[in-house]
Amino acid sequence: MKYYLLFLFILSYSFLQAQNQKVFMPGEIWKDANGDPVNAHGGGLLYHNGTYYWYGEIKKGKTWRVEYVTSWEDYRVNAGGVSCYSSKDLLNWRFEGVALKPNTADSAHDLHTSKVIERPKVIYNEKTKKFVMWMHVDSEDYGYSRSGVAVSDKPSGPFTYVGSVRPNGAMARDMTVFRDDDGKAYHFYSSENNATMHVCLLSEDYLSHTTTEKRILINQSREAPAVFKFNGKYYLISSGCTGWSPNPASYAVAGQILGEWTEYDNPCAGPGADTTYGAQSTYVQPVMGKKNAFIFLADRWNKLDLEDSRYVWLPMVIKNGKPVIEWRGQWDLSVFK
Ligand code: DGJ
Repeated sequence: MKYYLLFLFILSYSFLQAQNQKVFMPGEIWKDANGDPVNAHGGGLLYHNGTYYWYGEIKKGKTWRVEYVTSWEDYRVNAGGVSCYSSKDLLNWRFEGVALKPNTADSAHDLHTSKVIERPKVIYNEKTKKFVMWMHVDSEDYGYSRSGVAVSDKPSGPFTYVGSVRPNGAMARDMTVFRDDDGKAYHFYSSENNATMHVCLLSEDYLSHTTTEKRILINQSREAPAVFKFNGKYYLISSGCTGWSPNPASYAVAGQILGEWTEYDNPCAGPGADTTYGAQSTYVQPVMGKKNAFIFLADRWNKLDLEDSRYVWLPMVIKNGKPVIEWRGQWDLSVFK
């Protein structure tokens, strides 16, 4: 009886612990079910079998500036690999572990702690039954400019690193992947030294690039791409290129993903819109079970202490074909109809 009561107590305590986040609080410290700050920067979500998974950069420890890089403020932390969290309600997140480990032994390895691992995104391949993670891998001066790929049988990993590529020979930095309704997947990446975005169709197993690609936002110097689809149209939200400092977002729309993209102005409205509320886009997540309901995910970077960078998640709807994002200090999913 005593043990039974103790068991019940532990069970209800862990349940309460795990369910304590009631509202989104953009820019505040966001704790996971263990009470630790979520460490998943430049992240992306995957919805799989009723669960949301959040993958992001692990930024831990000291931030420093790479002194020999003088043309921009190259602040960095040791590459910490990629974390994975899971959630049923998008508010309460359980740490699933380090989905992709950094390499601590071989300084030439793409994932060595001395390198850069950014903006991991995971998609599921129905044919191969594999979870495929693409990420930006780089040298500390960002001159390597490649895309890395890793694969796993389970959403929470562990992911096995396959290798890196300059897609069809082109530089690739900030990136995202988008899986379309027909199962085809596309890689969006800032290329040509960040001047022009590329969209490239991935192979059927999602592990490599085909030669089917398109240059978009030509010479617009856009990065931090976040892609979604609504009413048969493709949307791409991106930021300007100002290092870790925030700038205005903009969006582009296309009827065909490899077709013509028309560029528009800032989807953010109200005070703070000119700096994307002090943040930079990383992903757009449709809210499952609702129509015209999206979450705009952004990072509020703290360049002097990158580990303390915060998450700015805001509701987004499409009004008359235009994505609309407004600041809210606190909100929940009831904002959507
Ligand atoms: C902006 C990018 O979007 C980030 O992912 C990171 O690469 C920083 N630049 C580095 O300054």
